[in-house]
Order: sequence, then C-alpha cells, then structure tokens
Amino acid sequence: MEIVVAKTAGFCFGVKRAVDAVYDEINRNTHIATFGKLIHNNTFTKELKSKGVEVVNDIDSILPDTTLVIRTHGVGKNIIDKMVQKGIKYIDLTCPYVKKIHNIVHEYYENGYNIMIIGDKNHPEVMGINGWCDENAIIVYNINEINIDEIKQKPLCVVAQTTINRENFDEIINFAKNYCQNTVVFDTICSATKNRQEEAAQIAKQSDVMFVIGGKDSSNTMRLYEICKENCNLTYHLETFEDIPQNINLKNKKIGVTAGASTPCKLIEEVLQTMDEMNKNTEEMDFAQMYEQSLKTLNIGDVVKGVVVEIRPNEVIVDLGFKSDGIISASELTDDPDVKPADMLKIGDEIDVFVIGVNDAEGKTILSKKKLDSIAGWQKIEDAYENGEILEGKVVQTINGGIILLCNGTRVFVPASQASDRYMQDLNELVGETYNFRIIEVNQRRKRVVGSIRSVLVEQKKALEEKFWADCEVGKKYNGVVKSLTNFGAFVDIGGVDGLVHISELSWSRIKHPSEVVKEGDMVEVYVKEINPETKKISLGFKKAEDNPWVIAQSKFNVGDVVEAKVVRLLPFGAFVELMPSIDGLIHISQIANRRIGKPEDELSIGQTVTAKITDINWETKKISLSIRALLEPEVKEEEPAENTEDEVVYKDGDVVADDAAADDAE
Ligand code: F3S
Repeated sequence: MEIVVAKTAGFCFGVKRAVDAVYDEINRNTHIATFGKLIHNNTFTKELKSKGVEVVNDIDSILPDTTLVIRTHGVGKNIIDKMVQKGIKYIDLTCPYVKKIHNIVHEYYENGYNIMIIGDKNHPEVMGINGWCDENAIIVYNINEINIDEIKQKPLCVVAQTTINRENFDEIINFAKNYCQNTVVFDTICSATKNRQEEAAQIAKQSDVMFVIGGKDSSNTMRLYEICKENCNLTYHLETFEDIPQNINLKNKKIGVTAGASTPCKLIEEVLQTMDEMNKNTEEMDFAQMYEQSLKTLNIGDVVKGVVVEIRPNEVIVDLGFKSDGIISASELTDDPDVKPADMLKIGDEIDVFVIGVNDAEGKTILSKKKLDSIAGWQKIEDAYENGEILEGKVVQTINGGIILLCNGTRVFVPASQASDRYMQDLNELVGETYNFRIIEVNQRRKRVVGSIRSVLVEQKKALEEKFWADCEVGKKYNGVVKSLTNFGAFVDIGGVDGLVHISELSWSRIKHPSEVVKEGDMVEVYVKEINPETKKISLGFKKAEDNPWVIAQSKFNVGDVVEAKVVRLLPFGAFVELMPSIDGLIHISQIANRRIGKPEDELSIGQTVTAKITDINWETKKISLSIRALLEPEVKEEEPAENTEDEVVYKDGDVVADDAAADDAE
C-alpha cells in the first residue's frame, strides 16, 4: 500500500487563522459562541461544543457576556451594525480574502454599480457578501441564471465566491461582458482553493483509490470530490475514518488522500491511521494463511503445483508453497537422456508435480515430473491407438529385441522387426533419432505400448510410389540417393522408387566398377531414360552430354594443331597418345620418326610426352591421327611399310587396334 497525501489537504490559511484564534480564546476562558458553525465539519463542531463553545444562528439569542465569533465566511454589514447597536462583543475572523470582497462590493454598490456575485446564493459566504450591498446583489451560479435585461441597466461589478469553479466564473464573465459594456470584474477566487483542486486532480489520476475528507456540507470538499471522481473511479468521500468502506482491499494499492479547507488535521490523521491498520490486518491475514499453509504436509502420490526457483545441472528446485522446497532429479524430469533440466524448464515456470518421496536427507520433498507427463501422455497414446493416429517419438535406447521410443513422456516398445522397413544389423544407429510411428498394441493393465515405425515407412513409401508413377516420364530429372552398387550399375532411390543407372551410363570413360564414380548414400542428379510400368523397372541416365569428352575435344583440337601428348600404349602399328582424359589419338609407326623404324618401342616409351601435329580428325568415327615426323626436318626418305598400314587399322569403341585379335590385347 502506498499513500500520497495532498500537501494542500486540510485547513487553508483563513480557516487555520480562525481556528487558532478560537482556541486562543478558549484558553483564555472567554465565553464564546460562533455565529454559525465555525467550519463545515461536524466532528470539529462537536469538539468545540465539548469545550463550551456554542453555535448560535440568531444574534438575539446570544447570552450576556458572550463573545460572538464571526467565522471565515464573514457576515453582512447589517449583522455587524446590529451587534454594535446591541453592544455585543465580537471577534471578526472573516477570512481577509473574503473581507476584501466585502469592501469591493460595498464601494461599488455605493458608486451606483449593480453587484453580481458568482456563487451559491445559499452559501454563508455569499449571503455575507450580499449583506454589503443591502442584499441587492445579482447572484448567479451558472450562465442560465443571468437576466440580460437586469445586467444592462447599470454598470456592473462582478465578484466571485472564493471557492467557486474557475471555468464557471470565466464563462459567466464572458457572457456578462457581451451585454454590459461597463463591467468591472474582480477575480476573487481564492488561490488556495485552486491549488487544492489542481493537486487533488493530479493525485487522483495516479491513484487506484482516492479518499476526499471533509464535511458533507462543505462546498469546497464536495467540489474536490467531484474533481477526484472525474480522475479516479474509486473515489470515496469520508467525513471521518469510520466512513472508509470495510470491504475495500487496500493491499498493494496506491491511495491518494486530500481534504477540504475546513477539514481538521486530526481527521486526516485518523483516516491515515485507520488505513494503516487495515493494511496491517491484511498482511497479518496473509501471514496467517501462509503459516497455516506451512503446517500442511505432503503425502506420496499427491499432485501439487509448484514454481521452479532453481535449475541445477542434474536437478530442479521447486517452491511448493510449503515448509520445504521440492526437488526433481534429472531422471525424474524425463526419460530422454539427451535432455537437460535447463532444456525443459526455466526459473519462474509453474508446473504440476507428483510427490514420490517426502523429507529426504535435506528435508526436501522428492518430486517427479515425468510421472505426470506419462499419465497425461498415456491418454494421448490410447486416443492415437483408437484413431490410428501417427505419433512422433524419439528413440532413447535399444533393449533386447527392439528399441524404446519416448512419446509424450510414455515409453513405447518397438520390436526390431518393426523398427525399419529394411533389415538393420545394428539398432543402435536409430538411437537419438526421431521417427513417426503407429501404435499397434496397448496393454492397459500392464501399461505396455507397442509401436511400429515400419508400418509408417511402408505406408509412406507406397504413397510415394503411387505419386512417382503418376508423375514419372522419360527425360524427367530427379535428385536421388545411391542406394546400392552392383557390378553392372548403381541403384538410385528417386523418391520411393529405385532406378538403375547402368555402368556404361555412369561415365564417359571406361570404368570397371560403379564405385569408381559413386558410392552408397551419394546424392546424384539423374534422368529417366526408360520406363517399364508393367515390370516397374526404370533405367536412369547419369552422365551428361556436356561432359562428353568428344564434345569438349571438338572445341579444343583442329587439324594442323601441334600438341603435347603422353604415350599411353605401344602397338606394332603405332603409338596411342592421350590428348586429354578419355581422348586418345594414334601416331602411326610411319609417323613416329623421319626414318623407317622397326617398332614403336625403338623410339618411344609409355609415359613419354611427345610433341606431334594433328594430321586428321574424324569426329563421327572418333579418330584422331597425329604425326611426329611432320615436325621433323629434313625428311628422310623411307619405304612404305609392307603391312599394318594406317588404312588397315581397325577402330573399336573409339580405340584403335591393328586387327580383332590386337583389339582384344589392347583392351
Ligand atoms: Fe480564506 Fe481562501 Fe480559506 S478565502 S477561508 S483562505 S479558502
């Protein structure tokens, strides 16, 4: 609870001056009476009465030897004259600000002005002011009460009740000036009232509850109440502390307090003291409730709510609102060994926990979260079994004959035969992975659940296959995964269906095994070469046209080019040289030297780099002929070879051999 008391609350200057003066007289044992209540506050009036101070409303009823006190509101001249005439002793405690108004009114009235008082005609202050113009003042409270004809007749002198609302005052002045050109205005609103109202509005705006203390017959208090009510819905008008609503909850509230100009400090203090006691009672009540709570005990099997107050590497501390905290070990949080306490909870989380032990060595209550999660999860498991719903679970361990999946805190056994759609030698490779699965058996009594990953995989595969055959067409490209290799090619999964990439389709070069190009698990881009929907067989292409070395060679080599090439094979009729990977050319034996040689080995050796001139290219038959001799000068005359001439060379699969038998050797 926070209380803000307005600095301007309580007695104003004029009231304080009057009250002090009265107490001075009381202390001097003067027999005094007040002409009307000294201030508009019943409590204060009763207190004065207890000290022998009477309230009189009629001068004629004043006892002899009584000194009459004229209160801050003041009285009319006729009253003063009457007292003087009757020889009544009096003390004039009219507030100096009010007295000033009397003087103005009297002066202007004497000078022929109409007097207008803006205020409440029944208020003693206004009645007193009116008494200084022979009670001929025009008294208006709002604009509707103005009689235009009346104010036009004479010059007008306007004054205001000291506690009147300023907006009201300004509005009336503006209106009156329009109809009476000769208007003299005196702003007699007391600044103490204005300051009090502004401060009250400010405090009310920032408060949850606002108390305005003062008499019900105090106009400035009532005005304060209206202002505060406009700024704070929960505004209460209190005459004394007894008016504070008993059922109001002040705990944690911001409370504003102000008081009218005639409210004694004592009343304000009593209100503050009462609020303080109410607040203490609330706190004591809270403490009592907490104490009562602390006496309660927990039993094993209870489910309680708690707030996480500490997270340690292997346990979580929970405030249960009881005598001692609870503790959840990591193993009682979840069965997932990969999940740490900090992954699951954060400080401030409100959680339900299951009591599994009370008062460990440190006096803590032992709790489990996974048990409650499992109970909640079991219902989901049963519903999923009924509906055939697919669930998600994480493989947390392997056991004899299968694996354990954790799903919503429930352990689900998956037999090895149901763990995958393929044979798995080592189920450990599934641990830590998350899979979709279907429940195939629930034993309510033993709380045993059996699941199948395979069932979901088979179903998914079937759906993929159907989609594949619906969309598949020759030429379509797929990104696939190499599933297995054989001597004749690689099987590639292209989305639920396996296709074969023949070994000849894997590379433009001659390879002996698919593993020279791909391995299992590789992601490869393939395209459909051929489909057989009946046998469900698909032939796939892998090598790309743009990688064809003969296509590349066309852009690199021309007849007449002098190139460097490496000798890769030597045959009786010549030497094969590598121009670029997969592209060989032939240097016929007659073109190896500028003289006749017996065999290529006489001049060349395998691995040797030679410089030769391209003498012929046939892109269709994929033949390239080269000559070293063409670069040698001077030419040496030689005889034509008797056999194995270039014309007799047989090309096979892009390579050149002397004849069929030699071709076999060459390969
Ligand atoms: Fe006087 Fe202003 Fe108070 S006029 S009595 S000081 S409110």
